[in-house]
Amino acid sequence: MVDLDKIISLCKRRGFIFQGSEQYGGLQGTWDYGPLGVELKNNVKKAWWRYNVYERDDMEGLDSSILLNRLVLKYSGHEATFSDPMVDCRKCKKRFRADQVDPNEKCSEGGTHDLTEPRPFNLMFKTTYGPVADENNIAYLRPETAQGIFINFKNVLDSTNRKLPFGIAQIGKSFRNEITPKNFIFRVREFEQMEIEYFVMPGEDEKCHQEWVEARKNWYIRYGIKPENIRLYNQKKEELAHYAKATVDIHYRFFPERPEEDKQFDEVEGVANRTDFDLSCHTKGGKLVLADGREFPNTDATNKLTYFDPKTNQHLLPYVIEPSCGVDRATLAFMMDAYCEEEVKEGDTRVVLKLHPALAPIKVAVLPLKKNNEDIKSTAHKIKKILLGSGFRTVYDDTAGIGKLYRRQDEVGTPFCVTVDFQTLEDNTVTVRDRDTMAQERVAIDDLKEYIAKRIGHND
Ligand code: GAP
Repeated sequence: MVDLDKIISLCKRRGFIFQGSEQYGGLQGTWDYGPLGVELKNNVKKAWWRYNVYERDDMEGLDSSILLNRLVLKYSGHEATFSDPMVDCRKCKKRFRADQVDPNEKCSEGGTHDLTEPRPFNLMFKTTYGPVADENNIAYLRPETAQGIFINFKNVLDSTNRKLPFGIAQIGKSFRNEITPKNFIFRVREFEQMEIEYFVMPGEDEKCHQEWVEARKNWYIRYGIKPENIRLYNQKKEELAHYAKATVDIHYRFFPERPEEDKQFDEVEGVANRTDFDLSCHTKGGKLVLADGREFPNTDATNKLTYFDPKTNQHLLPYVIEPSCGVDRATLAFMMDAYCEEEVKEGDTRVVLKLHPALAPIKVAVLPLKKNNEDIKSTAHKIKKILLGSGFRTVYDDTAGIGKLYRRQDEVGTPFCVTVDFQTLEDNTVTVRDRDTMAQERVAIDDLKEYIAKRIGHND
C-alpha cells in the first residue's frame, strides 16, 4: 500500500490538493483542492448523496448555515465541553495535545520538553456578526454540521409530513481549531462533513444502528475500498460520549507504514446511537445534562422538537442514529486505496489511480494517435465535444506520444482513453483503452456515449 508522502506528492504535482495560503507561507490546517481535487471531492459527495438520499425513500436533504447563534452551541454542550486538554512546553513555547505529546521527546531548545499541566482548549472558531464586535454579537463557525440538522428537525418534519423513521442528510464545511493539525488532509482546521441524523422510535434504535453501520461500510466497498483496508471499531464503554448508547467507528488503513497493524487504522467515520440527547437539549423547555452532572434548562428555544406518534397519540422525542463521515478523510481513503505502482514490463513501472469510474475526476481523455494529421485531430476534437455535451468530464491531449499520454491519464485515474487513429477516418470507430487492464476495444463513435455511461455505472 502507498504511504501518505507519495499521495501528497502526486496531489501537488497533478493539481489535486495544495497547501492553503501557500503563496504567503501557508495557513496550518487548511488545504486547497485544485482542478482535479475538486472534481474528485465533488464526486465523493455525489456518490454519498446518491447512495444515502436518492437510493432510499426515507431521507431528506438540508443545507444549513455555517454561522450559528451561540445559543445553539450552548445547549448542544459545545461551549462547555468541546475542548481538548493541551500542554505547553516552557522551553520551546510550543503547544501540544496532551494525549499526543511524548514528554521524553527531544525539545528544540535542548533536553526534553518541560510541559505544563493540561488545560482545556475550546476547539470552536469564534467570530462576531454585525457592525459591532462585542460580547453580545458572538457567533460560532459550526464545529459539525449535525447541530444544523437537529435545530431544523421540526421544520423538515412539518414541511415534508414525514413519519418515523426518516433521516436528514447534509454535506458542508465544519471548523475546528485543532491544536495539532497533521497528516495532510486527515486532521485539519477547515474540513467537510457528510452527516446523517436518522430519527427513529425509541426501542427501534439498536437494530437501526446496526443497519446503518452495515450500509455505511458497504458504501466504501461499493466505491472501491478493499474490504481488508476497512475495519469496524466498537467504542468501549469508557470511550463513549456520555450521551451515546453505542458508537461504531469505521476505520481505514491510513497509515500502512506503521509496524503494528492496529495502529495503521484510524477513523474515517463514526456511526453513533445518540439516543434523544440532542433533541432533548434543543427542545423548548428541555434540558442539557453534561457528563459532570451540570444541567442547563433550555429557556431560550422557541419550538418543541417532538414527534406526534399517531399510533399512541403521544408526543415523543425520537432517538437519533448518526453516521458522520469526513469528506476529506474519505477522499484521502479513496485515493490511497486506488493508488498502484505496476510493473508493465521489466524496468517500466506505471503509476495508476484505480478509482471507481464514478469518482474519477476526468472520465475520458481523447487522444489523437498522430498529432500532425489534421483529420485525426479534428475528429478527436469532435468526439470530445460530443462527450462533453453528454456530461462526461473529457479532456483532449496531443502534447506527447501516445504511450506518455496514457501514463499521464493513468496517474490521475482517468478510466477511459479514446484514441483516434487512421481506422477512425475510415469506419468511424475508435479504440477505448481500459485504465486498469490496459485492454483496448474498438467502439463506434455513435455508441461511445452509451458505452461510457454503462461502464461508469451511473447516468449522472
Ligand atoms: N457530529 C458528529 C461528529 O462530528 P466527529 O467524530 O467529531 O463526529 C465525524 O467527526 C467525522 O468528521 C470524523 O470521523 C472525521 O472523518 C471528520 N473529522 C472530524 N474532525 C476532523 C478534522 N479535524 N479534520 C478532518 N476531518 C475531521
